[in-house]
Amino acid sequence: MNVLIASPFRFVRQIRENLDVIRIMIKKFGFFGLFELLKSDVLYDYRYGVDTYSAVGREELFTGERLALQNRYCPSTFALIDLAIREAHALIGDEIRNCHFVDYGSGKGKVLIGAVKYGFPLARGIEYTERLHRVAVCNLEKLGLNSRAESIHGDATEFFPSPRDRVLYFFNPFEGVVLDQTLQNIKTIEPEGKRVLVVYNPVCDDIFCRYFERVAEKVSNPGQAHYNVYVG
Ligand SMILES: C[S@@+](CC[C@H](N)C(=O)[O-])C[C@H]1O[C@@H](n2cnc3c(N)ncnc32)[C@H](O)[C@@H]1O
Repeated sequence: MNVLIASPFRFVRQIRENLDVIRIMIKKFGFFGLFELLKSDVLYDYRYGVDTYSAVGREELFTGERLALQNRYCPSTFALIDLAIREAHALIGDEIRNCHFVDYGSGKGKVLIGAVKYGFPLARGIEYTERLHRVAVCNLEKLGLNSRAESIHGDATEFFPSPRDRVLYFFNPFEGVVLDQTLQNIKTIEPEGKRVLVVYNPVCDDIFCRYFERVAEKVSNPGQAHYNVYVG
């Protein structure tokens, strides 16, 4: 709260910039849910002096062909990150403590923060835009998480996970041929044990099912976020 008092203008500006997001959130979460979100996600940034929450328009991030293919940057909530990891935990069991975590399209690194908080020894994210990658690096540095969380600047189609990367997170990052190539890369690496993919807004279920077995189709409550869980 002290930080809030120190930078009330920044707080008000960010609320104004995110008014449309807030409207959608009220619809999805109700006022009580929105208050919880404000406490756990929006105020997190003020408490720790980081930038994980605010959305970024796609025109500010992408150009050319990519612009038409991408949505604007909008981060996961900590509640959704926890939910995804709990789903993976239920399937992998306590062995999950030795597994590594990958966020595909990791943006400002918020999911990596959530994964490290949960206890993963290593969480890595692959992020296409240099701008968001730099914000992620800065966030992880400020939080002192560099030894356990890493943002990699690059294209997911060129990234190969390690055998220990067994919890893979997808929050609406990309579709079509980019997704297909990314999943092919994952499939070429034999995991050390059961590998779990948690996918929010699973509009490309058919592509995931080409390579992995779908074991759950669910909706989060609160938030009404649709997600699928795959293994393989
Ligand atoms: C909806 S955001 C999700 C951010 C983060 N995973 C989260 O849940 O908070 C999707 C991210 O995927 C990134 N992205 C899009 N295409 C990509 C690609 N081919 N390789 C890596 N990242 C990509 C975008 O730049 C954006 O940061």
